[in-house]
Amino acid sequence: MNNFTYSIPTKIHFGKGQISHLDELVESGKKVLLVYGGGSIKRAGIYDTAMSILKETGLQVFELSGVEPNPKIESVRKGVDICKKEDIDMVLAIGGGSVIDCAKVVAAGACYDKDPWDLVIAPYRIKKALPIYSVLTLAATGSEMDKFAVISDMSKNEKWGTASEYLKPKMSILDPEYTFSVSKKQTAAGTADMISHTFENYFTNVEHADVQARFAEGLLKTFFHYGPIALEHPDNYDARANLMWAASMAINGLIENGAEVAWCVHPMEHELSAFYDITHGEGLAILTPHWMDFALNEKTAKKFAEYGRNVWGILIDNDMEAAKSAIAATRNFFQKMGLPQTLTEVGIDRKYFDIMAEKAANGCKGSFVPLSKEDIISIFEAAL
Ligand code: NZQ
Ligand code: ZN
Repeated sequence: MNNFTYSIPTKIHFGKGQISHLDELVESGKKVLLVYGGGSIKRAGIYDTAMSILKETGLQVFELSGVEPNPKIESVRKGVDICKKEDIDMVLAIGGGSVIDCAKVVAAGACYDKDPWDLVIAPYRIKKALPIYSVLTLAATGSEMDKFAVISDMSKNEKWGTASEYLKPKMSILDPEYTFSVSKKQTAAGTADMISHTFENYFTNVEHADVQARFAEGLLKTFFHYGPIALEHPDNYDARANLMWAASMAINGLIENGAEVAWCVHPMEHELSAFYDITHGEGLAILTPHWMDFALNEKTAKKFAEYGRNVWGILIDNDMEAAKSAIAATRNFFQKMGLPQTLTEVGIDRKYFDIMAEKAANGCKGSFVPLSKEDIISIFEAAL
């Protein structure tokens, strides 16, 4: 196991009715920028509840609404302008990962005197951020408890993840009931996303990071068990609660630290979203089984077999056969969740394979199986 430093400053209030803790925002000042998306929080009544608590607490609320899925830099710029003009003290995101990511870069951009895109492409420039709070309404990204934010500039076909300790929220409210209204499409995509985060951390060449590996397998079992239940019964509290909490654990450092990881399916997917604005989790579900096919070889079969035996209960002695069976189980799971299986289904053809693969290759060099531009093109081809 490698050395690491682990620090999560995010206070979590988990469960029904925990939105009452929004009154804790007063610790950070008087003026709050409320960031939200296209209206789901209004339809679900969360907006009204939050506003009444904030007003009762005496906070002055400013709003940035309409944050898009795959949040765009233009929304970040609008938020930064409000923060600077109104001298905002803190940022509150209510929504899914897109809203939280946008709010994070707004919070950092408010403390930076140039264009916030600089902070997206060069994380080291983030030296400070306003306090960030979130109320999560969609279990998927883990943004509510992690240091990442992913922002797109469609004018350049670019989507990059930035990261900083300053982007970790100060407090997040996780009420599983808020996710009852998430559509089947987003529930399936969100489940694929949390599974992918776990895979990206689990498939590592560092041996004997056993604690991390066993935690990861527990998370995977949870996703595979509860994903279909949430899809079938959107208001099943236990399914939504387990998915929500496990999703936070998949990317908050718990299973990553000490295991030395470099993600590779995410850099490939981010290129798909950068060029075609597709739903992140759907892109991951399409690419993951093809990445697994590509990454499986005599050297890696042992790890894939370990995954198959510990997560799927596969009882095959031969590593290569157990690994193939594990990959088939993964592919079947995504299919069962109604997720797209091919790039063609989401409107992607070969047109940009070359440029997308070239950009993605930069992020895939140190991964479990390092991928070259040509390797990535062959994975895209297989996924067509
Ligand atoms: O905009 P609204 O009206 O709120 O609707 C959203 C949106 O249309 C809707 N939704 C959210 N909560 C809902 C709801 N609909 C009904 N009921 C609710 N309770 O769902 C749609 C998708 O929302 P979005 O926030 O885009 O989804 P998600 O949470 O999957 O976030 C995806 C974004 O996060 C990035 C992705 O790349 C993508 O841009 N990621 C962020 C990461 C991070 N910060 O750590 C890591 C991930 O790997 C990922 O890259
Ligand atoms: Zn993801």
